[in-house]
Amino acid sequence: MITRRNWLLRCSILINIAVLLYICSHVIIGNSNVSIGPSFVMQDEYNVKPQIHQQQQAQIVYQEAANDAVQVNLLPQKEPAPQWNAISGDQQPEQVHENENIEDTRFEMPTEQSVIQQQQQPQQQPKSGGAGDVVYQDVNLMNTSTNEGFTMQNEEKDIETRLKLLYDCHNKDYLPETIQRGDFWVLKNYIRADHGELRCFETITYITHADYTFLDNLIPMLERWNAPVSIALHAPGTDLVPTIKAIKYLRDCAPGSQLVRQFTTFHIYFSGKHMPKFVPKYDKVLDQPYNCSLPSPFTNISSAQLYKTQKKLLYPINMGRNTARDAAMTHFILVSDIELYPNPGLVRKFLEMVARNDAPLQRKNPKVFPLPIFEVDSTSQVPRDKTELQELLKKGKAIPFHKRVCASCHGVPKSKEWMAANETEELNIFHIGKRVGYFVHWEPIYIGTHADPHYDERLSWEGKSDKMTQGYALCALDYEFQILDNAFLVHKPGIKVLKKDTKRAMLAAKTNQLIKKIIYPELQVLYGVRKGCSV
Ligand SMILES: *[C@@H]1O[C@H](CO)[C@@H](O)[C@H](O)[C@H]1NC(C)=O
Ligand SMILES: *[C@@H]1O[C@H](CO)[C@@H](O)[C@H](O)[C@H]1NC(C)=O
Ligand SMILES: *[C@@H]1O[C@H](CO)[C@@H](O)[C@H](O)[C@H]1NC(C)=O
Ligand SMILES: *[C@@H]1O[C@H](CO)[C@@H](O)[C@H](O)[C@H]1NC(C)=O
Repeated sequence: MITRRNWLLRCSILINIAVLLYICSHVIIGNSNVSIGPSFVMQDEYNVKPQIHQQQQAQIVYQEAANDAVQVNLLPQKEPAPQWNAISGDQQPEQVHENENIEDTRFEMPTEQSVIQQQQQPQQQPKSGGAGDVVYQDVNLMNTSTNEGFTMQNEEKDIETRLKLLYDCHNKDYLPETIQRGDFWVLKNYIRADHGELRCFETITYITHADYTFLDNLIPMLERWNAPVSIALHAPGTDLVPTIKAIKYLRDCAPGSQLVRQFTTFHIYFSGKHMPKFVPKYDKVLDQPYNCSLPSPFTNISSAQLYKTQKKLLYPINMGRNTARDAAMTHFILVSDIELYPNPGLVRKFLEMVARNDAPLQRKNPKVFPLPIFEVDSTSQVPRDKTELQELLKKGKAIPFHKRVCASCHGVPKSKEWMAANETEELNIFHIGKRVGYFVHWEPIYIGTHADPHYDERLSWEGKSDKMTQGYALCALDYEFQILDNAFLVHKPGIKVLKKDTKRAMLAAKTNQLIKKIIYPELQVLYGVRKGCSV
């Protein structure tokens, strides 16, 4: 085995030399635009060129950094795989130099055609390298992409192994805990999913928040997500009793309850000023099962009946988001709203994509992966894939999310092109956008990590703009928004229309003042200032 590997190594070194010579001759003779310098050139934010590192595929190790620079370590560099050269030869994406005055300072990714070509290139040849570790990694790369008879389990292990090499992540514990968060009590991991402790690269966690009247969305969402969910439920005062009943109903009685038991971890939070009379201990709370002949506590209920509404409390949306997020055990997380259903198969395809570590993933900037969001009318089924979505869009039965409420908050860069592009087998980056220009108020929903800034807990759902300040932080930290091509979210059927709500409008005005006068100056100190960024 060892001698065979040695032999392979020698062979690959020979191939390397040949490839190097080939490139050199191209540089000298053809005077082409091949850059062999360091691949991560500091880029002017307004003149971003596509750096598609065909010549030098460096590996990036991310470290969670509190400041705006994500530290990048370059592992031993790999030589180009022959098939990359074949593509880059005449398919090199055009370098787009955008004018400083152009509002939208996005830049082009490889054309769709070239992306598709990359996908179709079978990786027949092991990428070769100089150092032992890299060879090991390369053999792994070859193994998954060529070996047809590979079992799913091995492939999953392999993806995890590759992700471990690329990113730094730590497994977390999974213990119930009573913690304080400002004025609030948090029952973290109060009712836990059966999956037990998770390895950080095993899967992705869907992070969300709600009160119990929204729990009818949980199973439809889980049927599509089919992976761990961490949900924080706001349950002040007498809302706690029906909240616990609703959880029991979902775990014991509802069709699809096995998904709830398998994947869903519930956290509860409430203000100390609105204590429930009694809080069951986490290990006793499920002792008494739900009577499944009774309807669920969330059938036919309106928010007017909530303790929270009767006491005129605001919904502390970002405390819910942060609470559910901090409890999640996976490296990658999707912080979403429970009424937004992802397309099935997303988790696995996303992890595969990250493990492939294609060129966009190797870019130096911190990055998140937004999902375009859509609404469908109340008579339509939620589309299961992009092809079905496109059918509905064509018939006018689906529209981009909040098109009629706040188009610029949820509009996605290149959305027309996105909607027009056909579905492909794999998941890839469709376009890299920034939160500037037309998209300066964008509140994207994305797959990110625990390194991303938290949500400001002074903001409420009623006051609106609850993700705005986090968006500013991302912009100031120079995040890239790497939009996924075949992934999307669909709101629970029914298209929203703009309703007049004077009370909420007043609160929103107050919130805007809070953001402008207090939060924004704080964020400028913490995250810095960057041209084009705004709250
Ligand atoms: C492919 O992976 C399997 C299982 O991980 C391993 O036993 C085998 O040696 C690998 N193949 C090559 C060519 O390294
Ligand atoms: C469950 O609820 C049904 C309907 O109200 C009732 O008839 C039944 O007695 C209840 N079962 C138990 C065990 O409480
Ligand atoms: C829902 O509530 C309304 C009024 O409270 C009642 O008339 C209706 O029958 C209820 N529907 C169901 C399915 O329970
Ligand atoms: C997209 O798919 C449709 C239907 O399968 C096909 O007719 C069309 O040519 C495809 N478009 C592109 C750009 O591949």
